[in-house]
Amino acid sequence: MPTNAPNTAKSSEDSSSNFPFVGWLRDVAPYIHSFREKTFVIAFAGELVQEIGLENLIEDIAMLHAMGMRIVLVHGIRPQIEEQLMLRKIKSKFGKSTIHHYRITDAAALECVKEAAGELRLDIEAAFSRGLPNTPMAGSRISVISGNFITAMPVGVVEGVDYIHTGLVRKVDSASIKLSLDSSKIILLSPLGFSPTGQAFNLAFEDVAASTAAALKADKLIFLTPHAGLKDVEGDFITELSLPQLQEYLSGHLKDLDLGIKSLLNISGRAIRAGVSRVHFLPSNRDGALLEELFTHDGIGMMLASSDIENLREANQDDVGGILQLTMPLEEEGILAARGQDVIERDIQRFSVIEHDRVLFGCAALFPFPNGIGELACLAVDPDVQGSGDGERLLKRIEMRAKQEEIKRLFVLTTRTEHWFLKRGFKRATVDDLPEERKQIYNWDRKSMVLIKDL
Ligand SMILES: CC(C)(COP(=O)(O)OP(=O)(O)OC[C@H]1O[C@@H](n2cnc3c(N)ncnc32)[C@H](O)[C@@H]1OP(=O)(O)O)[C@@H](O)C(=O)NCCC(=O)NCCS
Repeated sequence: MPTNAPNTAKSSEDSSSNFPFVGWLRDVAPYIHSFREKTFVIAFAGELVQEIGLENLIEDIAMLHAMGMRIVLVHGIRPQIEEQLMLRKIKSKFGKSTIHHYRITDAAALECVKEAAGELRLDIEAAFSRGLPNTPMAGSRISVISGNFITAMPVGVVEGVDYIHTGLVRKVDSASIKLSLDSSKIILLSPLGFSPTGQAFNLAFEDVAASTAAALKADKLIFLTPHAGLKDVEGDFITELSLPQLQEYLSGHLKDLDLGIKSLLNISGRAIRAGVSRVHFLPSNRDGALLEELFTHDGIGMMLASSDIENLREANQDDVGGILQLTMPLEEEGILAARGQDVIERDIQRFSVIEHDRVLFGCAALFPFPNGIGELACLAVDPDVQGSGDGERLLKRIEMRAKQEEIKRLFVLTTRTEHWFLKRGFKRATVDDLPEERKQIYNWDRKSMVLIKDL
């Protein structure tokens, strides 16, 4: 550069404030790192194609693939089968079972299934092949592999009804799928399977997705479906459930749920028991749902996990010793404000803890103040298990308790953990933003930062 050239570069602070996406990209970087090389089975209902179209979903998946995620895509075709049946003036037939809602697939219906699956598969492959300049797919070169990965068996005769060509997944050729994933291919599965006798069977895409996720021990199984989310007793959507909680929910709500969602939940429970880490349920009519769920802290759907969550519980007097063991070293380092044993004993019902084999390895407390404000305090995770999501689970638990107590704003005082909270939706605030009662006991020597989150 000539020495007399004007220096037009702005300071890094100025330039990043002009480009908010820089901050945004940095915020999502941890997710990108942690999802790299993880296996995701993404299953979407045929309704999605009619409601919002394929284009954006395929672009989003192409981007996840470019970030290094191993992707198996499973598509449904229920409305597309209906269209084919209508075109041929054939009436849809379903069994009358009270436990499932299988289509009776006779020979004519099977032709419609093949037609619907073939057409949609071609549309998906075409969408992955786009690469026009100035589109999100520019520069992408994605190979999509479909094949006879699914061995099926007939549903057979149930309660006197023969389901003919309607089938269930018997086996998934996970070795071949893994080979293709290893060479960076996207696997595309239609809800069709084949028996060793060479017959084709009409399958539920949920069954194909869950069986494949189980066979691959996938990190995530994600359903985009038209089913409405589950609601708790107060009518709020449930965002997270453990397997035992799901079973409890199902036993209490069996009558209120339609067969479709019941069987989706059962299939998902089966996948978790078979070793799938997480199952997510997202609305199929919301553009960008997949990205919102994966790259935001709170997500937008419901997540089902194994029994891990059940180790998270409210504290009792027996936990005082364990809480002290966790917090005392941090108090000595000046990371947590000092709280004596008697104070913890007095406030024990304000604490939530995470335990494993009766050993505590995480705690957090919620202290309510007037006017719907609460303080998150004493958040600590045993250094040996830090980084495995327990801090985040404790935060979610405290947020849930806060909502139950009608707390609308949560604040935290921290000396060294500012960024951890900022990443989880807290915003910088000042001592003046604290409730009056808390302001009076603010320790000016510690000079803790004040962070606030609206719930
Ligand atoms: C903050 C704390 C509770 C997080 O617990 P955790 O179980 O490790 O949390 P998670 O697993 O949910 O999150 C881990 C992530 O947070 C990051 N992190 C940990 N401490 C951090 C800090 N001080 N600042 C910024 N990020 C931090 C980790 O690097 C990790 O990032 P990664 O997922 O990109 O690898 C734990 O580090 C702790 O006990 N710290 C000491 C006590 C404390 O500071 N409490 C808060 C004041 S009330």
